[in-house]
Parts: sequence; C-alpha cells; structure tokens
Amino acid sequence: MAPRKITIAELQRLYRESQPIVALSLYDAVTAGFADEAGTHIILIGDSVGMTMLGYADTIRVTLEQSLHHTAAVARGTKHAMVVGDMPFLTYNVDVAETMHNAGRYMQEAGAEAVKVEGGRNIAPTVARMVEAGVPVMGHIGLLPQHVKVQGRYRVHGRVDEEAQSLMADATALVEAGVFSIVLEGMPAELAKQITESVPVPTIGIGAGVHCSGQIQVSHDLLGLLEAYLPKHARRYAELASEIRDAFTAYAKDVTNHDFPGSAESP
Ligand code: KIV
Repeated sequence: MAPRKITIAELQRLYRESQPIVALSLYDAVTAGFADEAGTHIILIGDSVGMTMLGYADTIRVTLEQSLHHTAAVARGTKHAMVVGDMPFLTYNVDVAETMHNAGRYMQEAGAEAVKVEGGRNIAPTVARMVEAGVPVMGHIGLLPQHVKVQGRYRVHGRVDEEAQSLMADATALVEAGVFSIVLEGMPAELAKQITESVPVPTIGIGAGVHCSGQIQVSHDLLGLLEAYLPKHARRYAELASEIRDAFTAYAKDVTNHDFPGSAESP
C-alpha cells in the first residue's frame, strides 16, 4: 500500500497510537525524495539551511527568499511527508500583516503545508492569528537558534526550576494558540517528558531525549556532510563527506591523466 499523505489528522493518529513521528530537516528536492521514500513523516526546511547549505555561521542571516527557494525545492521532491517551512529571523512576530503575508508565501508560492516559528508566550498571539487565518503552525521552544546573539551561546534550557516552569508555560500558551505540534530543542529529557505528557499535540525532540512524540535531526549531521562538528544529540548514519571528497579527487585525477572521458563516455 502506498504511504499516506501526512496531514495534521494523520500526525494526530500517530500521536494517539503512540507511534513515533519521524522528522528531518533538509533543503533540496533530491534528498527530500529519499527521505520521503524512507517514510519520514515531516520534512522541515530548517533555517539551519544557513549553516548546512549557505556557508553562514548561524541561522540569523537566512532570508525569507532563501528559505522560500529551498522550501519550494523540497515541496517539489516530496510526495507523502508534510512539508514545513521554517520562518527565518524577524520574518514573523514583528508586524502582524507582514507575518501573515510571509506565512502565506510559504503555502501559496513554495508549496509548504505548514510553517514553524521559534518562541513561546511571546509569539502566542501571532500564532493564534496565523492559525485563525488557516496557516498550520508548528511551535519551537527550548534552545532557540534565532536568539543566539541575545543568549550568547547555544546551551541546554530548563535545567533550573524557573526556566523549566517558563518552558512549560510556553508550551501551554502555544497549544492554546492552536499549534499542531511543538519542537522541543536542547532541554533535559525529564522536562521534555513532562511537557510531552502535559500537551495534547505531538512534541518533536532534538537534543531533548527519548520521551518526545517524535524526533527531528538535521540531515547533514546524519549523513556526515559537515565533518568539523557533530552535535551531541546527533548520530552519524553515513560518511558522505569522505565519499564525496574521494569521488571528486578520483574525477580530478582522471581528467588530469586524460583517463576521462574514456571511449564509453565519448560520443
Ligand atoms: O533549523 C532547523 O533545522 C531546525 C530543526 C533542527 C528543529 O529548527
């Protein structure tokens, strides 16, 4: 049987049946097709595109146009997974009309089925407006990469009581605003468990332990494409950087030695 198209109703079914939700952050049509075939439920075009594809040090410089460009590519390569666009830094929650316009572009121009935004109580009214207007929204709390310049560094959030309670209140506010799911990033597993047990929507963890309703990872980490750094929460399933380097080296050698093209590759 062909895999179903993943809708919010289908995510809710998986969640009710305690079936783990598989999510990946990736950025192009080809790998989206592979992830789709592998049964991934949610494909996020994360603003991690800044580091994985665009050579930036963080997510802050990713623009709306860049994000829409990659989201459209992923949407073209995806048949079954839900495609979620990740709204970049300051493209939401500044001005309501602009937020609505930008969210609309993900759905109408890029073919996304939902958007993700970072924040909790501070963005709940904006989330409510988007949901009321028909835009499915995924929340994101805990470690917020778009706040790295204010926070100074990436760190686990919610280790102290006050922060844990604040994250719990953020999750509740997002649910009241109408999110269909919440990413929990960089928080103690026990806190992620408590949040997961207290909200009626699936939580998708990254660096938040095993008790979330699902997991998301950055595809470049799993594929071994960024050799310099592997976050503690990631696991390498392939070593593509060395395979690609070896392939390019072999090609360069063949061209240099007049071994490529050979008779089979010649007209
Ligand atoms: O940008 C991203 O890829 C993300 C996920 C890791 C949650 O926000």
